[in-house]
Amino acid sequence: MYEFYNVAMNDIDKSANLPRHVAIIMDGNGRWAKERGKPRIDGHIEGSKRIREVLSAASECGVKYLTLYAFSSENWNRPKEEVDALMELLKNTIREHSEDFIKNKVRFRTIGNVGKLPSNCVELLEKLKEQTKNFDSATLILALNYGSRDEICRAVKNIIQDAAGKKIDPEKIDWPVISSYLDTDAIPDPDLMIRTSGEMRLSNYLMMQAAYAELYFTKTYWPDFGRDEFIKAVKEYQRRERRYGLTTDQLKK
Ligand code: FPP
Repeated sequence: MYEFYNVAMNDIDKSANLPRHVAIIMDGNGRWAKERGKPRIDGHIEGSKRIREVLSAASECGVKYLTLYAFSSENWNRPKEEVDALMELLKNTIREHSEDFIKNKVRFRTIGNVGKLPSNCVELLEKLKEQTKNFDSATLILALNYGSRDEICRAVKNIIQDAAGKKIDPEKIDWPVISSYLDTDAIPDPDLMIRTSGEMRLSNYLMMQAAYAELYFTKTYWPDFGRDEFIKAVKEYQRRERRYGLTTDQLKK
């Protein structure tokens, strides 16, 4: 087993062209459960187990930032039973992994309107953020009550307030200024965006930040997306040529 893992990891060129930031849409938990005749929440529980495995594969590859879409601003519309179960799972996941984060010096961050989550979730999240804020070996970012459009609305309100309070000059508003008002302030843009389960859309996830991200779609459901699948996605990324609007010849110069 281990030998196979090592071969896969060795295929990655760690000296060049590594994604610094990988963002994942963890999709397919419900279908994974349905195909096994289990309740949807069992798919989420199995999916939550992949978080640690993928974080560990990411740090081994040298990926510095991993952002996971755990709960979207639209997910509140799911049946109450499922929303409650997801909140419970969030608390359990944080409790279970807190010591691991600290031991491995992983910084924990969130994006999204986290203040609107149940207060006992907020307390756990804030505590772990505080405990890990000075770590820099890797950063795990959970997107919770996150949606790009909601993020933009909150950013615009703050920009307008700061312009009215003369803290910023409207004439000098450019992309770096706007970007500093987003939840992802000080986090580099994702280089690679992965969506599992065969769906091919971005679903209001990091829409501005992923402007130049390489997109990778796989049919594998999130509960089946483990270490090998992550390495496969990074290898595919390393084969791509990112041109940022330039030509291939220009890149060679
Ligand atoms: C999408 O699958 C997944 C989610 C909406 C939640 C993701 C949650 C986890 C991976 C578990 C960990 C949870 C937390 C909160 C840390 P889906 O339910 O849309 O699957 P389907 O498209 O097959 O129905």
